[in-house]
Amino acid sequence: AEPAALPRDLEGTRVVVTAGGTREPLDPVRYLGNRSSGRQGYALARVAAQRGAEVTLIAGHTADLPDPAGVTVRHVSTAEQLRVATHKAAADAGIVVMAAAVADFRPVDVAAHKIKKTDDASAPVITLTRNADILAELVRDRAPGARRPVIVGFAAETGDEDGSVLEHGRAKLRRKGADLLVVNAVGDGLAFEVEDNAGWLLAADGAETPIPLGSKAQLAVAVWDAVTAFIRHQGD
Ligand code: CTP
Ligand code: CA
Repeated sequence: AEPAALPRDLEGTRVVVTAGGTREPLDPVRYLGNRSSGRQGYALARVAAQRGAEVTLIAGHTADLPDPAGVTVRHVSTAEQLRVATHKAAADAGIVVMAAAVADFRPVDVAAHKIKKTDDASAPVITLTRNADILAELVRDRAPGARRPVIVGFAAETGDEDGSVLEHGRAKLRRKGADLLVVNAVGDGLAFEVEDNAGWLLAADGAETPIPLGSKAQLAVAVWDAVTAFIRHQGD
């Protein structure tokens, strides 16, 4: 259930949210994709609209989610299409939230015809190339010292021998230069294809807020609370 009374604290703010996964074509019928359902980004867009924002949702592939009410939706497929649509919408936005699962790589060559098996037992080798980092471009495009748009990233992290989820999150926030990073702890079925999330909200001003296990709608509320708090602190 949606929380009962939401503040109208995003009234008059243009917000861009990206959501879902991209698909990188291999041939006319095949692609490299990911398991993003789009649910978290859609919840963020819905809650922002409920809090008064003018929301553009750049939607990649999702688990067949319906367009949220009161939101302008632009549907895209590839990382490059998501990139173009996001930069266009971000040009006059106050806040951009990158919740989409953007492919880091795409096949160098897209076959014009369906790839066929050959008579020998060989298999094709697929060579990949890097996609642009849209979040890093948004940071780079912002005028030096400019505060808008506020740029929010998402990261799904696992703890490993190089560090904990929180340490990986802090390093990614610094590396990407975003204002806020929502760090989801993943592994054991957390976050992908489940209803719950848990992690941290890290802000460039040093604020670190744990995110309790809850619904994607509750996480969306926590993210907008953190973004509006970040903007209030900028005013100090
Ligand atoms: N992102 C992006 N463009 C890409 C890849 C990622 O804008 N080509 C954004 C995602 O939408 C997310 C943030 O960057 O908000 C972090 O994505 P993530 O995959 O965790 O980070 P990467 O920098 O791609 O690092 P990794 O090697 O861990 O995948
Ligand atoms: Ca990535």
